[in-house]
Amino acid sequence: MATNITWHPGGLARDERVRITGGPGATLWLTGLSGSGKSTLATAVEKQLVHDGRAAYRLDGDNLRTGLNGDLGFSREERIENCRRVAEVARLFADAGLVAVVAVISPYAVSRLGARRMHDEAGLAFVEVYMAATAETCAERDPKGLYAQATAGGIASFTGIDDPYEVPEAPDLVVGAETSVAQGVELVLEALRRASGGSSRQPE
Ligand code: ADX
Repeated sequence: MATNITWHPGGLARDERVRITGGPGATLWLTGLSGSGKSTLATAVEKQLVHDGRAAYRLDGDNLRTGLNGDLGFSREERIENCRRVAEVARLFADAGLVAVVAVISPYAVSRLGARRMHDEAGLAFVEVYMAATAETCAERDPKGLYAQATAGGIASFTGIDDPYEVPEAPDLVVGAETSVAQGVELVLEALRRASGGSSRQPE
């Protein structure tokens, strides 16, 4: 544990960054099973935001596991630590005025609640988006062939097969499996506008 630490405040008010970033910082947290469309939607949302003149950046679970989270596996503890780190990075990005577009399975409610609390405490908008495709649908899509491998016993503790996913009880937005990417982008941006106008909703 780090001890004898003193927080050093900056010399800029949040509003001063808006001129550079095109709007206030926020975090969009996309949760759902592997293959539910998180990464696809996150990519499209990031692109739309940047084209609209907003600073935005994707934090994708698979990508972060090649670096920052490369030391973590898929036990409950490691997934919770993975999500905690992603939430901390997202909060920093949001504080810097960016829209952090997070795409992580985040199977445990405690992680999503922790991420929301972190943002609430910092006065930053947080939007939880549940990608509501079922395990059956994701297994049919199986874009990376991982469901086939997991079912054949090649991957242990695969979310939705033999590892839990706690369905969000009160997400800010639910994106159904049949929603097109273009529709999903509209829905997410609308939810972002709502959240940026007021504080984040009650935790699940
Ligand atoms: S989380 O559970 O800790 O939130 P994260 O989103 O970072 O997961 O990473 C999930 C990605 O890791 C999946 O999209 C998939 O490509 C890969 N993966 C490898 N092993 C597993 C596993 N056992 N369960 C789920 N995803 C896995």
